[in-house]
Formats: sequence, structure tokens, C-alpha cells
Amino acid sequence: MTSTSASQSVPPDQGVEFEYALQVAAEIAAHSPSSHNCQPWGVGWARSETARHTAAALLGEPVEQTRAGYRHAAHDEGEYLILALDRERQLTSLPSHEVEMLISCGAYGEILLRALAAQGWRADRFRSVDPAPTARGPEDESAGLIFGDRWPDAWVPLCVVRLRHAHPSSGDLAELHDTVRARHTNRGPYDPDSIAPAVLAELSTSRSGLSSFRAAFESGSEVTVRHVVADAERAAVADLVSRYGGRDFSHSLAWRETHSFIRRDEADAEARGDGFTLGQLFGQLSPPRRVGMRIALAPTTMRILRHVGYHRLLARQLAAMVRRSPATVALCFADEAPDAESVVLGGAVLADYWLGATRAGLVLHPVSVILQHDDARTELEQRLGLPGRAFFVSRLGRAITAFPPSHRLAASGALRLV
Ligand SMILES: Cc1cc2nc3c(=O)[nH]c(=O)nc-3n(C[C@H](O)[C@H](O)[C@H](O)COP(=O)(O)O)c2cc1C
Repeated sequence: MTSTSASQSVPPDQGVEFEYALQVAAEIAAHSPSSHNCQPWGVGWARSETARHTAAALLGEPVEQTRAGYRHAAHDEGEYLILALDRERQLTSLPSHEVEMLISCGAYGEILLRALAAQGWRADRFRSVDPAPTARGPEDESAGLIFGDRWPDAWVPLCVVRLRHAHPSSGDLAELHDTVRARHTNRGPYDPDSIAPAVLAELSTSRSGLSSFRAAFESGSEVTVRHVVADAERAAVADLVSRYGGRDFSHSLAWRETHSFIRRDEADAEARGDGFTLGQLFGQLSPPRRVGMRIALAPTTMRILRHVGYHRLLARQLAAMVRRSPATVALCFADEAPDAESVVLGGAVLADYWLGATRAGLVLHPVSVILQHDDARTELEQRLGLPGRAFFVSRLGRAITAFPPSHRLAASGALRLV
């Protein structure tokens, strides 16, 4: 963990125990999904007096007067984590990436908190922080939000969580670890046989198992999980992918950014710790095909090839995969314009859903291109009669071929003592 000279304002044994649990949890959570595998998350562990005070104040902990001054009631018992978006790691080429980044951070936060709960550290208070506070004046609490001088400049705080040690631990750490490691995006063809309705029904309700952010969910935010299995509806999704999917490749800025995450080979991907290889995107390729794909996908070639409709060909290929998959899943917010808290919590629901699908022997392949542009997203919502704003759409099915896992940055790099 970066930085070690924090002032010790909690009992040292508790700090040591929590540090170990946090490192274990971060190792697991590092394997969370994120757009382009950009891993835009960070977590501050509040150790300094300033950071702990700010976190406690944000959580509305009652203040007690002591001989030494003022302190928060739970000061010596709880640990505070601040989940953040790392602006240096975020995608920026499309406005819709803002939502994808918060979703990715929320998924990471959910897995991190679950891994902590499985080690006996349960989140008992949660408070979101507006990532884009409006300057409303000095009385605005977010304007005075300070976690101390070790808080990285590029990090935008998203939420503060208090954790306390409790027995028994909730959940099985080994099971969580295995499920998280078994979850991969699978972009290959799926078994066309339909998925048992009972399995889909179970997945639709699995979010009730959410451990960590549950309290916040009870306060209002709602996510609907909708499985699209009827032939006509799957054909409608495929039609949208076929019509709009080419935008991924024809939007110069967006494609340049996507391409910057495509790694030369496994060694390059391992060394960089993020992004994906052609094998993760297209499955096993023969060496000549790999060379051909590398040339075709380069932004300069793509600019030329799009004049002959290459982007439309790629979109049609993706659409065919969607049509042949037994199901599509859409996750939707009830609210047309969800706030940042709802979006981060939507990411927590996504993590819960994806892990549930993995346990059920299913794989996913998100198809975000039909959400990234308002016209396509609105048409999708209308044609499927979705109840609100869709924020995640994916193919769902049983894998035919295994896909290699993608690489990750060192888990400790996402942690900071603040
Ligand atoms: C919000 C979100 C959107 C995503 N959109 C796409 C997508 O449009 N196409 C795709 O192939 N993968 C998509 N993914 C999957 C990521 O690329 C994948 O999680 C990442 O590369 C890490 O690989 P892994 O899931 O196999 O661990 C998305 C993931 C998230 C969290």
C-alpha cells in the first residue's frame, strides 16, 4: 500500500488486521470488470486524523466533547474507506463513458466490500459524495471535502464507507475468490439452447443478495434486470447492433481510444496490466489472421476501410452473435436521469449479477455500443419496453469456447493511505 507514515489514530492491532484484510480484498476486487479493462478505481483508507474526521463527519457520526477536543463517537472502532474514480485511468472519448466509469467503480466497490465482509469487516454506514459538486458556497459540505494532503489529485471521491469488525463473517472468501476469478467476458459464440427460466428468474432477483451497498439501495435507487429471450426481441436487439454497432469503429476519437487498449500480445498485456489482446477480443486466431486483424484495426487503416463499409461488416458480425445467443440481458435504472450515487450502485448490482451468472455457469459479453449514443439507447428502450434508462446490455449464454483471462494492474496500486 502506498505511504506508510500515517498518524495512528486507531488501535494498532486493529489497523494491522484491517490492512491485511484490505489487501486480500483488493487482490480479489482487482479482477472486477471495467470498460476496456481500464480499471479506473481507487480506494483511500482513512488513517490520518484529517481523513478520519472528514469521513466520520460525512457519515453524520455524532460528535462527542472530550478533554482533548471534539471526536466522533465511533472514532476508535470503525475503519473508513473512500471509493474513488481515478481520472488518470478513465475513458473520455464519449460522454457516455462517464456512466461506464462509475459503473466500473461501483462493481469494484461491491466486490471489495464483499471480500471484506467475508473476512469479518462489514460496512455499516455508507454515504455517497457528489463527484461533480456545484460551487454553492462555503456552507456546501462537498466544497470543503478534504481527505488530507495524501489524497491523489486525480482521484474523485465517490462514496465513503464505514466498516466494523463483526463475527461471524458474511460469505465465504474462498468461494468469492473462485467466482471472481472464473468470471471473464466471453466474446465467442454461445450454445444456442435456451437458458432454463428458473435460472433467469433466480438471476433477476440475485441483487437482493447485495451485501455492502444494500442500505443505500433500501433508500430508493432501483435497478431492473430484464432478460430478453423471445426470438422477436432478440432480433430487435441484433437489428440495433447491426445498425449502430459500426459507430464503435467509425468514430475516430472513440476508436483511437479503444485501439490504445489493444495490446500487441500476451507479454505486452501482462507488462501493461490493462487493456486486452486480440485473443481476448476475437478468440484464437491463426498467426496470419492476427497480423491481418492488427492491420485492419489500426486507426489509420480503419479510417480508410470505413469508406468501403468495413465498420458495417464488423457490426453485422457482432449482430449475428447477438441473434444466435440464447439471451440478452438489460439492466435499467428506474430514473431517466440517475444521479452519480445511483450509477455507482448500479455498478454494484452489475457485479452481483455477473457473479451470479458465473455461478450459474453462464457467461456475458457486453454490447455497450447500443447504449453509448442516445438515439440507439432510446430506440432499444422503446422496442423492448424497458422500464427506464438502460445502463448495461450484454449477450448471455453458455460458453462454447474458453476465453483467456485479461490482465490486471497490481492490486496495491489502487490503494492509498490517506
Ligand atoms: C460498463 C462496462 C461496459 C463494457 N462494455 C463492453 C463492450 O461494449 N464490449 C466488450 O467487448 N466488452 C465490454 N465490457 C467488458 C470489458 O471489456 C471487460 O470487463 C474487461 O476487458 C476485463 O475483462 P474481463 O471481464 O474478462 O475480466 C464492458 C465492461 C463494463 C464493466
